[in-house]
Amino acid sequence: MSTRALSSTNLTPAVLIAKEEIEKRVRELADQLSVEYAGRELLVVGILKGSWVFLADLVRMMTVPVIIDFMTVSSYGASTKTSGVVKIVLDLRCPIENRDVLVVEDILDSGLTLKYIVDNLKLRKPKSLKIVALMDKPDRRRVDIKADYVGFAVPDKFVVGYGADYAERFRNLPYIGYIEENNE
Ligand code: IMP
Ligand code: MG
Repeated sequence: MSTRALSSTNLTPAVLIAKEEIEKRVRELADQLSVEYAGRELLVVGILKGSWVFLADLVRMMTVPVIIDFMTVSSYGASTKTSGVVKIVLDLRCPIENRDVLVVEDILDSGLTLKYIVDNLKLRKPKSLKIVALMDKPDRRRVDIKADYVGFAVPDKFVVGYGADYAERFRNLPYIGYIEENNE
């Protein structure tokens, strides 16, 4: 996959998960979460930037009261390979001690990013801490971490859309797509 092909503005990624399929699955997750957290107030922590589209749809389909905060971590830069180094670039503004916390992530890949985030958040003593990931690439895992809720298990392809980017492009695609290798 060449950077030139991917950065072309008229390139259309192939559909992996259609818009309607995403909507149906996000609604199922929202229903499950609304049951799990019924009667409680949830602190939803979105991991920027990839989670924002998923988070926006998910919280609007949930029926429990939520407070929303964001965290930015860097792990990849503009490359598709993880550096293995995770750094908090923007921290939460809300204290999470004694709160029910739900971390929202776009993709669980090697797991390095979420493992770092979860270990860090646990030190702040939340009442509970769970993870929802829109996509999971289980074959790529390098550390021991699982999401409590997963939207879709996806193959080992570089995916874009519905918040996920390649070099900041394609986040606004309404579906989840991938770039076909023969576009090189
Ligand atoms: P991990 O630390 O390897 O689990 O990487 C997780 C982060 O890498 C995710 O939050 C995504 O932002 C990014 N990422 C991993 N795979 C992809 C992909 O296929 N497309 C776009 N971003 C990805
Ligand atoms: Mg991300």
